Amino acid sequence: MKIIVAIAENNAIGKAGDLLCHLPNDLKHFKELTTGATVVMGKKTFLSLPRRPLPNRRNIVLTRDTAFTYDQTEVAHSIEELQGMIQTDEQVFIIGGGEVYKQFMPYVDELQITHIHHTWDDADTFFPQIDPAEWQCVSNEYHEADEKHAYAYTFAVYTRK
Ligand SMILES: NC(=O)c1ccc[n+]([C@@H]2O[C@H](COP(=O)([O-])OP(=O)(O)OC[C@H]3O[C@@H](n4cnc5c(N)ncnc54)[C@H](OP(=O)(O)O)[C@@H]3O)[C@@H](O)[C@H]2O)c1
Repeated sequence: MKIIVAIAENNAIGKAGDLLCHLPNDLKHFKELTTGATVVMGKKTFLSLPRRPLPNRRNIVLTRDTAFTYDQTEVAHSIEELQGMIQTDEQVFIIGGGEVYKQFMPYVDELQITHIHHTWDDADTFFPQIDPAEWQCVSNEYHEADEKHAYAYTFAVYTRK
């Protein structure tokens, strides 16, 4: 399993139930990596998606609410239940949010991180610290801000040491 996330300088990932900003190239990158794969997300992230479920992907939503159902979407009520729903060779991306990333850090072997080079002081949701003793950066691709991207950003990949 892999995590995919966009993180600002202060580890922020969201505010008021939404993303911090919209970077079209990051959305494209997210779509390229996750299309055809399985995406797992918390109910808050799922309900924040402008279009749901995400097309051309197996969508699994984590919730403790046993009454929750949604069209063309699978539901897991615990990490253990989720583990029973996925095949060992399946490509699985954990796509958020904060509560879910925190719980899945011990289970993932790769982090696909977009570092956004900006700080938001009003953020309310954060990514856990990436421990340099545990994770190594294996690729790094920097992009300047431009007319479509208000902030500079870096696509980085981390694997376990
Ligand atoms: N920057 C990024 O890349 C990125 C990506 C995704 C999301 N986000 C942002 O993150 C924020 C949302 O994150 P969040 O932490 O508030 O919520 P979240 O992680 O999306 O969802 C939390 C919910 O998931 C369910 N859940 C969590 N762990 C579970 C478990 N072990 N078993 C069963 N259900 C479980 C619970 O739903 P119930 O309460 O229904 O039980 C819980 O309330 C938003 O601002 C969003 O925009 C940012």
